[in-house]
Amino acid sequence: MTQPLLSIRGLTKRFATGGGWFARPRDMTAVRNVDLTVERGDVVGIVGESGCGKSTLARLIMRLIEPTEGDVALDGISLGSLDQRALQAARRRMTMVFQDPYSSLDPRLTIAESIAEPFRIQSRAVSHEEIGRILESVSLPASTAKRHPHHLSGGQRQRVGIARALALNPDLVILDEPTASLDVSIQAQIIELLASLRNRLGLTYLFISHDLGLVRYFCNRIVVMYLGSVVEVLSDPKAKPRHPYTRALMDSSFAPDPSLRRTIAPLSGEIPSPFNLPAGCAFAARCNRVTEACRSKRPNLELLEDGHAVACVHPL
Ligand SMILES: Nc1ncnc2c1ncn2[C@@H]1O[C@H](COP(=O)(O)OP(=O)(O)OP(=O)(O)O)[C@@H](O)[C@H]1O
Ligand SMILES: [Mg+2]
Repeated sequence: MTQPLLSIRGLTKRFATGGGWFARPRDMTAVRNVDLTVERGDVVGIVGESGCGKSTLARLIMRLIEPTEGDVALDGISLGSLDQRALQAARRRMTMVFQDPYSSLDPRLTIAESIAEPFRIQSRAVSHEEIGRILESVSLPASTAKRHPHHLSGGQRQRVGIARALALNPDLVILDEPTASLDVSIQAQIIELLASLRNRLGLTYLFISHDLGLVRYFCNRIVVMYLGSVVEVLSDPKAKPRHPYTRALMDSSFAPDPSLRRTIAPLSGEIPSPFNLPAGCAFAARCNRVTEACRSKRPNLELLEDGHAVACVHPL
């Protein structure tokens, strides 16, 4: 039996924050008991509002930060069990593309130098021709190599960010809001590029976004997070959401066509403080289906039907 590319079990990250002369540090749980299996070739979307733990989950998967509990395994091998050298090798199979191509590229370096950097870290030489080919693979002219980031548009810079991430042939690419800072038309071109690269190179994507509409369009599986926990998993992105939070996200998500944009925000009520989560469902304070049962016990993620799981006492 082949192993899934990525398997995540009980992954939890607590941060101790604050503290000082008069205040004791307090624990907040940024990611809580997350289980997730990603098969080769999957495009898994991770959606949720700002602060729900998406980037923390990404950093845990890359093991840029240590989990408080739980584990991440790549091809069935636990990252926690690896020594530094083996961990570096595992990390090279995973890569990240960030939202802001301005800050992920060093302004002092030419594009050629930026693309050569991952090779240099591995003591590998890379020729001009190879850099030209890498640029052409993201539909940039080879002449871009001589330029500096400030000469490029936001979309061109993100293409460089993608080229750089793919330079060392990773298996898993974590895209953390890769189009969030771009105009809608440029956003569509980058999504198209990512889709074609995935087909051509057989990549697996974890696509982080707060835009459920975009995730439903681009991904073949969706994981919805709320205040650190997974509240719904949809194996069919077009399936009807069963969690009231996913439903609300869907109603408030922008239509891709600007003329169809709705800005109604059905999500009302305060997000509870992550320092002081209620005992029951974390969404209870904002949910229009709430009952007493919701407030007493946090619902677990339960499988409803094949590939569709929801953590809700009263699913839709
Ligand atoms: N190093 C840290 N120390 C303390 N708290 C942190 C740290 N990193 C993240 N957090 C907190 O963890 C929570 C989750 O943050 P995270 O950046 O993962 O959210 P996110 O879903 O990526 O949000 P966004 O959509 O705004 O990028 C937030 O409340 C954040 O303040
Ligand atoms: Mg983030």
